[in-house]
Amino acid sequence: MGKTTTAINLSTSIAAFGKKVLLIDADPQANATSGIGLEAQTDGRSTYELFISGKSISECIKETQVENLFAVTSNIHLVAAEIELINLPSRESILKNKISEFLKSGNNEDGNTFFDFIIIDCPPSLGLITVNALTAADSLLIPVQCEYYALEGLSQLLNTIKNVKNVFNPGLNIEGYLLTMFDSRLKLSNQIESELRKFFGEKVFQTKIFRNVKIGEAPSYGKPVVIYDPSSTGALNYMDLGREFLTRNGIEIKIENEITDIDKDNDNNVKENIEEENQDINLNSSNNSVNG
Ligand SMILES: Nc1ncnc2c1ncn2[C@@H]1O[C@H](COP(=O)(O)OP(=O)(O)O)[C@@H](O)[C@H]1O
Ligand SMILES: [Mg+2]
Repeated sequence: MGKTTTAINLSTSIAAFGKKVLLIDADPQANATSGIGLEAQTDGRSTYELFISGKSISECIKETQVENLFAVTSNIHLVAAEIELINLPSRESILKNKISEFLKSGNNEDGNTFFDFIIIDCPPSLGLITVNALTAADSLLIPVQCEYYALEGLSQLLNTIKNVKNVFNPGLNIEGYLLTMFDSRLKLSNQIESELRKFFGEKVFQTKIFRNVKIGEAPSYGKPVVIYDPSSTGALNYMDLGREFLTRNGIEIKIENEITDIDKDNDNNVKENIEEENQDINLNSSNNSVNG
C-alpha cells in the first residue's frame, strides 16, 4: 500500500527541508528500519521496549545517516507485543503516553522543541499496535494504492478510524489521502484519482506518487529513494509531497538542503541505473481495464 515507503521518504524529505523528524517504526517487519539503513537489532531499545517495558522514547532514539532524521527502530520481537499488550492497563494508550512524556521532558534543546514531527510507520493489520498509533497521532496520512480493491480496503480503515476517534482520540485528523503507485497510462489509476477527489476533495494531496522502479530498488541499498536517486521520479514525487505537507501545515520552506548520497561508493551504480528509469513497467493496454 506504500505506507512504509511514504513514512521513510516523507520523513527524509521534511528533514531535507530542515525540520527535525523522528520516525517510529511500529511494524515488526521493520522495513522502515532497514529502509533508512539501520539494523533491526534486538538491542533492548526498540519499539518493542517502548510498548512493553518502562523504556522512554529518549532512551530508544537512534541517529540515522540523514541529517535531522532520527528513528526508533523495530524488530521481530514486536510481533509478541501485539499479544502481550492485551493484558496491560490502558493498552490502547501506551504509545500516546510515551510520546506525551517525551514531549514534556526529553524533547527539548535550548528551550526549543527538538522534533518538529514524529512519524509512525504502522503495521498492515488493524490490531492493538495500529490502535496505539492512531490513539497517539494528531493526524493520519493514508496512502491509497491505485489498484482495484483500494477503495474497499479504505472503507474498512475509515470504520476503524471512526471507532478509535470515538473512544480514544477525538482529536484525530486525516492529514490527507495520498495516491501511490500511480500510472497515468492506466484507466484504473485515473478512475481512482477522480473517485478519491470527488469523495475527499481537498483532503487528497495534489502530489501523486507514480509507480517508479527506483522506489523498489532503494530499500535494498538501505536508503530512502530521495537519497538513493534524487533525480528519479519517485524521489521528485516525495520531495513534492514533503513541500506540500509542510505548506499545508503552515510551514514556510526557507532552505532546501541539497540531498547528497552519504555512501559515495554507490554513485556509479546510481548513474548506470538512471538509464533504466523509463523502463519502469511494461504493462500492455489490456491491463488498463478493470476486471468485471
Ligand atoms: N510508487 C511506487 N513505485 C514502485 N514500487 C513501490 C512504490 N511504492 C511502494 N513500492 C514498493 O511496493 C512494496 C510495498 O510498499 P511498502 O511501502 O513497503 O508498503 P506497506 O508498508 O504499506 O506494506 C515495496 O516493495 C515498495 O518498494
Ligand atoms: Mg510497511
